[in-house]
Amino acid sequence: MTEPGELYRAEALTRVYRAGRRQVRALDAVDLTLDRGHRLGIVGESGSGKSTLVRLLAGLDRATSGTVWFEGIDITALPERRLGMVRASVQMVFQDPRSSLNPRMKVADIITEPLRSRLVRRQLPADVDHTQRLAELLEAVDLPADAGRHYPHEFSGGQRQRIAIARALAPKPEVLIADEPVSALDVSVRAQVMNLLTDLVAAQGLTLVVVSHDLMVVRHLCDQLVVMRQGRIVEAGATAEVYGDPHSAYTRSLLEAVPRIRTGGAERHSRPDGGRPGED
Ligand SMILES: Nc1ncnc2c1ncn2[C@@H]1O[C@H](COP(=O)(O)OP(=O)(O)OP(=O)(O)O)[C@@H](O)[C@H]1O
Ligand SMILES: [Mg+2]
Repeated sequence: MTEPGELYRAEALTRVYRAGRRQVRALDAVDLTLDRGHRLGIVGESGSGKSTLVRLLAGLDRATSGTVWFEGIDITALPERRLGMVRASVQMVFQDPRSSLNPRMKVADIITEPLRSRLVRRQLPADVDHTQRLAELLEAVDLPADAGRHYPHEFSGGQRQRIAIARALAPKPEVLIADEPVSALDVSVRAQVMNLLTDLVAAQGLTLVVVSHDLMVVRHLCDQLVVMRQGRIVEAGATAEVYGDPHSAYTRSLLEAVPRIRTGGAERHSRPDGGRPGED
């Protein structure tokens, strides 16, 4: 069902949540393709279905209807026990490393934990040396070589996100999905973490999916872009083209809002969850 070079294809992908008697159509007949080695940005207002979409791509949630093919396999039809194959190849990084990292585990164990998973072991060489892999990963994300002996709380917000990225890369995934990877970070460290992601994706030949409500983040990281609104994709295309010539009125309004936020200096104040200045 997938063309050569195509990593993902989604057709009429729909996810309806039930909240009591109410139904929320979080994702409404979304079509999408993503080729291997590309970097897809997903933008849209809060509640537009961005996280719902990436959770379905990662095999972390079930579609109500519609199909996702990953490497030609219909993952919406896979039984739970076979979804592990997808979960090992597709790794996620979340917004807030404070809540995604276990505070009671040392960084070495956090980063190498995915290597102990049975599913991951099946696709890595049997003799993978955890100590050596840890050293490689710490170096790849620019953390000190002794970081493994410490706990997450001993690090800044930016460093904790580096730990989360190292953990995601541990099983050598094909796809990295980052859901608002820099939104919880102080403005001063966002660019560093974005540059790190850019370098890692290029060096390791990863396919990247980035969710962000910040259009600047997506512009920086992604060559493909979809704009979502109310569970639907209202615009899709090459990032440069969408930025240069947006077709939907909604995309135009998003793009026009960006400079206002910047010059108003409101961005920092609109993120009460942000890290402390001078971090990283
Ligand atoms: N587990 C759930 N149960 C019920 N409703 C849900 C659930 N998860 C998401 N929703 C609803 O589905 C819609 C889409 O949510 P989703 O989290 O995908 O949006 P989002 O674009 O990621 O938003 P944000 O930018 O705030 O993260 C929202 O209306 C949300 O309230
Ligand atoms: Mg979300």
